[in-house]
Amino acid sequence: MQGSRKYANCNVSGACIADFGHHVICVDKDNIKISALNAGEIPIYEPGLDEIVQSNVRQGRLSFTTELSETLDEAAAVFIAVGTPSRRGDGHADLSYVYAATREIALALKRFTVVITKSTVPVGTGDEIERIIRELRPDIDVAVVSNPEFLREGAAIHDFKHPDRIVVGTHDERARALLAEIYRPLYLNRAPIVYTGRRTAELIKYAANAFLATKITFINEIADLCERVGADVQEVACGIGLDNRIGPKFLHAGPGFGGSCFPKDVRALIKTARDHDVPMRILEAVETVNDTRKRAMARKVSSVFAGLLRGKTVAVLGLTFKPNTDDVREAPSLALITALQDMGARVRAYDPVGMEQAKQVLADVTYCRDPYDCVEEADAVVIVTEWEQFRALDLERVRDLMACPVMVDLRNVYRPEDMKKYGFAYTSIGRLPTHEPVKLVDAPFSIAAAV
Ligand code: UGA
Repeated sequence: MQGSRKYANCNVSGACIADFGHHVICVDKDNIKISALNAGEIPIYEPGLDEIVQSNVRQGRLSFTTELSETLDEAAAVFIAVGTPSRRGDGHADLSYVYAATREIALALKRFTVVITKSTVPVGTGDEIERIIRELRPDIDVAVVSNPEFLREGAAIHDFKHPDRIVVGTHDERARALLAEIYRPLYLNRAPIVYTGRRTAELIKYAANAFLATKITFINEIADLCERVGADVQEVACGIGLDNRIGPKFLHAGPGFGGSCFPKDVRALIKTARDHDVPMRILEAVETVNDTRKRAMARKVSSVFAGLLRGKTVAVLGLTFKPNTDDVREAPSLALITALQDMGARVRAYDPVGMEQAKQVLADVTYCRDPYDCVEEADAVVIVTEWEQFRALDLERVRDLMACPVMVDLRNVYRPEDMKKYGFAYTSIGRLPTHEPVKLVDAPFSIAAAV
């Protein structure tokens, strides 16, 4: 394709960049993963990814290899897109994969190359990447760029193709020109490119995730207050979200945020700030509140039974940290299920795609065929992840299958009035339950009425 270049990469971004017409070679050390990809199998669950991969492989723009060296013969740019999990013990981002990839890239460089970090890395990592490359290859010129990714799991392809912004952190004009060329199709769609310094770009990524995690935690605490004072959190979210300065997104109260990004990025930003002697008290609160919340969700279930869960069977619908992914990392379901078991409950569970992953981390759970199999003879059903198929359950069938029609809806999928009609004792987040008389907390002040 005219104007296309070769890029080395291995993730959703790689497939989407190939879809723009560039040539992309994905490199991974994992032989099994690369063999699977070469056989047309996609090792992660991401809606739409298989079609994009297949069509770009067919058109000769996307290929997979374990050999980094040969990909750099022609590549104008190489993206580092490896994981940066929380380091065991201290919560800092583990950069060992990033630096291992950097060293390999350095040794394989053939000429001036733009090295782009897509991985979420703490401020200053780009400086270290550049130092490593210059030390190993003083003979080669490089530009090291930070180009963070803002893709959500389960919606990654949509997010890549319709970004709110593209952040490019470098002062190197050659690198800026190359990144502009890579993202030209998005720029034509008017996605703004924010050109900035490398350290600023690295911090933008963490600040964005930390801000969103804070927004969720804020509305979750407002939800708790709503339950006490007889207000409705969804209407509060709508009422504040209509203010353009606040915005309506990421105001869905729930069981706490999970996944492979928010929890680890909040932790890592707190650590970075501490290293620079800057306390991040708001984020420290976000981390604690969120961790406590996931387990506390089990109390919502036990409170329906006056705290007596021993011997009860609880059906859990949804194990992944959000819909449209098979990822259960730091999912609220994990802490919830463990807490339910600690309280003596038996747990049955169903998830449309996350059960294999869950089996690796959860013991003593009965995994079921479908939602109806899951609720059979259960004393309570808990909706933990808002998969589409849980939004349209046959509620009469669910009620009749259960030993006791109790639903705890941690994603506010259903309306309390409807659930009451179906005869459920229904508890949700930030709204009054249907199974108890309304107990309003008295206002802490009195008003003298003039007679
Ligand atoms: C998040 C960010 O949204 C992406 O922009 C970012 O690129 C990505 O992290 C990353 O750093 O790679 P992701 O973790 O895939 O994406 O999923 P989100 O949709 O952000 O959801 C995270 C958690 O927050 C989920 O557990 C979700 O249920 C929860 N959440 C989200 C809420 O409880 N309420 C909301 O209103 C939104």
